[in-house]
Amino acid sequence: MKKSLLLFVLILSLLSCNSDKNNKIFLIGVSQCSDDSWRKTMNDEILREASFNSDLNVKIKTAYDSNQKQIRDIESFISEGVDLLIVSPNEAVPLTPVLEKAMKEGIPVVLVDRKTSSAQYTAFVGADNFEIGKEVGVYAANLLKGKGNVVEIRGLEGSTPNTERHEGFISVIKDYPQIKIIYSGDGGWLRGQAQAQMTEALALNQSIDLVFAHNDEMAIGAYSALKSGNSSQTPQIIGIDALSGPAGGIQRVLDGTLDATFIYPTGGEKALQTALSILRKQSYQRENTLYTAVVDKSNARVLKLQTDQIVQHQQRIGQLNNVLDKNLTQYSTQRTFLFFSLFVLFIITALSILLLYSYRNKNRINKELEKRNIAINKQKEELSEQRDQLLTLSKNLEEATQAKLVFFTNISHEFRTPLTLLYGPLESILNNEKLSEAGSKLAQIMRKNVQVLMKLID
Ligand code: FRU
Repeated sequence: MKKSLLLFVLILSLLSCNSDKNNKIFLIGVSQCSDDSWRKTMNDEILREASFNSDLNVKIKTAYDSNQKQIRDIESFISEGVDLLIVSPNEAVPLTPVLEKAMKEGIPVVLVDRKTSSAQYTAFVGADNFEIGKEVGVYAANLLKGKGNVVEIRGLEGSTPNTERHEGFISVIKDYPQIKIIYSGDGGWLRGQAQAQMTEALALNQSIDLVFAHNDEMAIGAYSALKSGNSSQTPQIIGIDALSGPAGGIQRVLDGTLDATFIYPTGGEKALQTALSILRKQSYQRENTLYTAVVDKSNARVLKLQTDQIVQHQQRIGQLNNVLDKNLTQYSTQRTFLFFSLFVLFIITALSILLLYSYRNKNRINKELEKRNIAINKQKEELSEQRDQLLTLSKNLEEATQAKLVFFTNISHEFRTPLTLLYGPLESILNNEKLSEAGSKLAQIMRKNVQVLMKLID
């Protein structure tokens, strides 16, 4: 019994060793402002990085460029009780109150790529957009050799990368008086809107030497406007993002759609790593500035090769992750099965021990009962012997009584006859004979005693 108890305790301790129930599972809400390739790349990075951590759940919501939708998304994350928010605010001012609310409720906020109009956030991960604007300015000034007309197609008006990229660009261009920005319009980060802006710029009928679109999507939109408007102008087109892949900015540089683009890292891994450090109360950097670099004909091919390889590696990692997940699931099923089998084994052992114990008990009781039975039988035998003796005794007694009765019957009969024969003549003597007084008295005494004897005989 002690052994099975030990086994049970062992199983329990094994179970408790292997369960993750003590580890808190963190829930991270990711609120993306838009739904485009750049965002998808970031989301993939976040999810891939998250898959390396078993104590993590990530939920992603996309606002499709709507402030209202993004505010609703964040509100619902807050009421869902997320442990941390990763947010790329569509526009700074409208999104500030809801993110300040999250901070007030103790939910850390990691801003990615775009900022709010408040300093109330836990950490920021993204490139320095003012710096990128400056680099574009330097690059453009070089291309233009300090002289030319520029069309600037800006990002969404209320979003911080728009202001910062513009200010960075201007901070350089202002030193070149012969570089003129002849048109500046809000392309809203979107290809179609940028195409419309470029069409408007072309309608000015001024020569355009360079187009600076705040992202590659809008740069492609500007290129489409040039092509579809059958414009004779062939301005240099610069964008930002430099995504890898067949539709990304690097490929666009290679196929000549764009003249240059600037790497704008998505930084999904960094965002998630920072979020995890915050949640695990480890040290982290509040400002995480990601690198940037120009991509043009001089390095696009090398970069493409490298980024393609990185994508392949990432896909491989994804596949390995899936295999690992499968194996982990299999392992956990097998572990559960093992524990179950051990548990069943324990039950069977315990039951067998119980059975053996009760079997032995039963045997012991049976033996005792047998002993008692033998004793009882012995007693029974003795009793029946005694009964037989009693029966013989009572029979003997009965026979003796019978003999006594016969004897008394016979003897009384033997006495009665002579007594009757005495009594009759005595009576007749008393009645018929003349007796002296003394003789009569004696005869009477005789008659009285005969009567006594006869009464006794009766
Ligand atoms: C993606 C995007 C990028 C751009 C960034 C600015 O949604 O438009 O193309 O660089 O956002 O926040």
